[in-house]
Amino acid sequence: MQGDGRVIPAEGWVRTRRDSKGVTFLEINDGSTIKNLQVVIDQGFGGFDAVTANLTTGSSVVVTGKLIASPGQGQAVEIAAESIEILGTAPVDEFPLQKKKHSFEFLREIAHIRPRTNSFGAVARVRNAMSFAIHSFFQERGFIYVHTPIITGSDAEGAGEMFQVTTLPLEKVPLVEGRVDFGQDFFGKKASLTVSGQLEGETYACALKNIYTFGPTFRAENSNTSRHLAEFWMIEPEMAFCDITGNMDIAEDFLKYIFAYVLEKCPDDMDFFDSRISKGVIDNLRQIAGSSFKRISYTEAVDQLQKSKASFEFPVSWGIDLQSEHEKFLTEQIYRQPVIITDYPKQIKAFYMKLNDDNDTVRAMDILVPRLGEIVGGSEREADYDRLKNRIVECGLNPDDYWWYLDLRRYGSVPHSGFGLGFERLIQFVTGMQNIRDVIPYPRAVNTLEF
Ligand code: 4AD
Ligand code: MG
Repeated sequence: MQGDGRVIPAEGWVRTRRDSKGVTFLEINDGSTIKNLQVVIDQGFGGFDAVTANLTTGSSVVVTGKLIASPGQGQAVEIAAESIEILGTAPVDEFPLQKKKHSFEFLREIAHIRPRTNSFGAVARVRNAMSFAIHSFFQERGFIYVHTPIITGSDAEGAGEMFQVTTLPLEKVPLVEGRVDFGQDFFGKKASLTVSGQLEGETYACALKNIYTFGPTFRAENSNTSRHLAEFWMIEPEMAFCDITGNMDIAEDFLKYIFAYVLEKCPDDMDFFDSRISKGVIDNLRQIAGSSFKRISYTEAVDQLQKSKASFEFPVSWGIDLQSEHEKFLTEQIYRQPVIITDYPKQIKAFYMKLNDDNDTVRAMDILVPRLGEIVGGSEREADYDRLKNRIVECGLNPDDYWWYLDLRRYGSVPHSGFGLGFERLIQFVTGMQNIRDVIPYPRAVNTLEF
């Protein structure tokens, strides 16, 4: 925009107002960028008295005026108001966002108003850009976007952390032989919200070669942490004729692509995060986008943690599930960069992962990053019918529930691999936002369901 004296209308919400001798300055913002537009009002101009009492923070306005070069610091242009219309008022004693800094905890209670703050506007724009980048990355590489179902009859992770979907009357559930009669339920069987689109994704990969899903997933985990949600978005590519190394290569390229994209497309918002939320976040992303991730096996990771002699709340031994403190230690203290860990013990991983020849470990690969720990979980899939069926039984699941999934191994089975990237954890990493509840518009978590 140039300050060439054109008369233009500018719409937005008033962020701040400052009155000085004979002149009033407004900062207005319409959400298109983190930068406000400065409006200069000569208090002597006709119509000022009519609007002045209601020209408060939060009110919505249409200002018409001359776009001129700004003599002040911080902006190239400003608007010299010729007329101001207030569309909606926001009484000072009622509107919750006044000029002072509000805590993120408080803003979570007014999640319907928080997108009008700098932080949440920036998060929304970056989240949007990242969504677009995700599609671009896969579309440029010929991956087919597949819409996997949200209501499902199978547990994709076999971990039992599913929300049930039912139309049965909960106050009077029909029973047969003391058990819930799901035959009378809407689907004639037990139904849940999906924890992952992977299994259905695999059926399409085993026909179209390279596919991805990108949609909401649901976990009834009772984890009240800054990196868990009950409803989160996941990106899950699945590639046929691809082994675990190909899987890691794609995951690494994918993350770097997203980082480079956001740095290029959202410079103002990223400057904001860098200066106000997490110092150094831009340099960090730039450096990661330009270097290789460290790749080690689970066994090596356990060795390194033990050798470090650090004291952990959860002691380290071969076979344990790596806790957040271990993941942080590996990425922040030992390697100081993203780390891909492969070949985990089969006991701590899902039934569908390909068993290694040692019979103890599976071809899993998790990507861990500093500050957050795991952001990607993936694997090469078990492509052998008998081995898969054994693993399903070993994990205490019923092979009949997975008959269609097993069929992929009966007809034209191929090596295939994929991973899941938690979208909100990725946004946390990119923006430096501390709490996962602040990177999704309306967080759902234990005891959290306002809005
Ligand atoms: O490691 P997970 O459980 O893997 C899967 O669901 C596989 N089916 C993915 C696949 O191979 N297609 O979850 C994948 C990622 C995690 O690394 C994490 O980033 C994110 O999903 N995630 C969560 N994000 C927010 N809140 C939660 N409760 C999450 N659980 C997992
Ligand atoms: Mg995982």
